[in-house]
Amino acid sequence: MARRTKVYEGKAKILYEGPEPGTYIQYFKDDATAFNAEKRDVIDGKGVLNNRLSEYFMVGLNTIGVPTHFIRRVNMREQLVRVVDMIPLEVVVRNIAAGSISKRLGIEEGTQLPRPIIEFYYKDDALGDPLVSEDHILAFGWATHQDLDDMVGLAARVNDFLSGVMTGVGIKLVDFKIEIGRIYEGDFQRLVVADEISPDSCRLWDAKTGQKLDKDVFRRDLGNLSEAYTEVARRLGVMPGNSTTMPKPKLMN
Ligand code: C5P
Repeated sequence: MARRTKVYEGKAKILYEGPEPGTYIQYFKDDATAFNAEKRDVIDGKGVLNNRLSEYFMVGLNTIGVPTHFIRRVNMREQLVRVVDMIPLEVVVRNIAAGSISKRLGIEEGTQLPRPIIEFYYKDDALGDPLVSEDHILAFGWATHQDLDDMVGLAARVNDFLSGVMTGVGIKLVDFKIEIGRIYEGDFQRLVVADEISPDSCRLWDAKTGQKLDKDVFRRDLGNLSEAYTEVARRLGVMPGNSTTMPKPKLMN
């Protein structure tokens, strides 16, 4: 057996060199971390669920013309993705106040925001991923004016798509985080949604009960994380293991 070349290992995923140039294999681990990895655990099956859910969202985005790094799922825990040049920012979109915006600005969790709010955080674990302004981003050269316009456009489209999908299954999309990378095509570059979209990076509340179905279950010790993610997968029809099973034959008379 040949050893694969590990390109990068993060808190929840590993990137290996892919089978063709310009590709990576993205492996989803079961590790859960919060508060900059101060709280950590291993949640059986989380990687399998996030692989499936991220596939589901990325395929949906590709279908409506929002470019992503996703090529195809390879197995239960791995997907083939394009190599992109990551922009060192986390792009957060908020529809309802929760988490850090509630703390920072004293807005009660659950308050509907007047419109979706987009924030940028500089990706740096040692600094705790600080909130940054567009001026910081431009001055320090993390992205250009054009990139910022494109990132805001991508974030808004992802928000519309995810909000719609979630509303359809009785879930409120409170907020989410995406990461964006550059793909170079000759003289041009294109920004694409990269990394993952999963309940690890979104806040999802049941529309009726307000029950949390995302990583806050782990962050705030609210119960069983994999049950929460399984519920999201079940509602979306993305259950690991049975999505390829044929429907039972129907008796006709
Ligand atoms: O903590 P905060 O309220 O800023 O998080 C906003 C959204 O971004 C949440 O959905 C959270 O899960 C996500 N997030 C993330 N990775 C981070 C920080 C936040 O996925 N490093």
